[in-house]
Amino acid sequence: MSALQIKQLNKHYQLDAIRVPALIDINLDIQPQRFTVLSGPSGSGKTTLLNLIGCIDKPDSGEIIIAGQNTKALSDDALADFRSRHIGFIFQNFNLLPVLNAFENVEYPLILAKMPAAQRKSRVMTLLDAVGLSDKARNRPGQLSGGQRQRVAIARALATEPQWVLADEPTANLDSQTGAAIIELMRQMQRDLQVSFVFSSHDPQVLAAADDAIFIRDGRLISRAQSTAPTTTKTLELAA
Ligand SMILES: Nc1ncnc2c1ncn2[C@@H]1O[C@H](COP(=O)(O)OP(=O)(O)O)[C@@H](O)[C@H]1O
Ligand SMILES: [Mg+2]
Repeated sequence: MSALQIKQLNKHYQLDAIRVPALIDINLDIQPQRFTVLSGPSGSGKTTLLNLIGCIDKPDSGEIIIAGQNTKALSDDALADFRSRHIGFIFQNFNLLPVLNAFENVEYPLILAKMPAAQRKSRVMTLLDAVGLSDKARNRPGQLSGGQRQRVAIARALATEPQWVLADEPTANLDSQTGAAIIELMRQMQRDLQVSFVFSSHDPQVLAAADDAIFIRDGRLISRAQSTAPTTTKTLELAA
């Protein structure tokens, strides 16, 4: 699996007559199969960077190479297809579909990926079991706690076995105990499935769990702290 490479990335927003720089000359390599945290104060550019990495938005200039693909080379349609196959998202507000139950929320990306029904069912049950929610499969988001909703969102993000999982402040709307359990779960899933996680957070609990912490401020990269822990081996195979 290849590193995520970010080269000379720039992005601004236009607010009426005001040009708001959000990311300035970001150069960054992120190693695969690790737990990487983007940290920085509110407004520093974390969400903007994750949205660019995740192909949700496009940069003004610069390049992103993810899962071996230079995203600049893809048309909008090809980008959407690439994203659905290689990148999973976990959001601060969970972003679950309220009319679907936990099972159906996790199943949704697999339907889009045209996986046959029997295979889908087994994959969804394996994932719900892995996040500790097999007994809540029929509950809708409104019938789940915040921590349980985020567990469903984690299962959904992992459903298509993406190489990269991006999470934008995944514990910000959770109390610290629930947040700690969610971090532990994501850490476990990262090890078991050998996916590459990139988070944004200013939660000290998330930073403490990171293999690699990247600090940004005012749209610029300011420092980095990497551990040298070896990558682990894949132990959990999703049912095919
Ligand atoms: N849609 C937008 N329109 C205008 N400015 C924006 C928009 N989104 C973000 N910004 C600005 O871009 C900068 C970076 O924002 P953001 O990436 O959301 O930071 P963070 O996630 O670290 O809080 C901030 O100055 C923010 O106000
Ligand atoms: Mg943000």
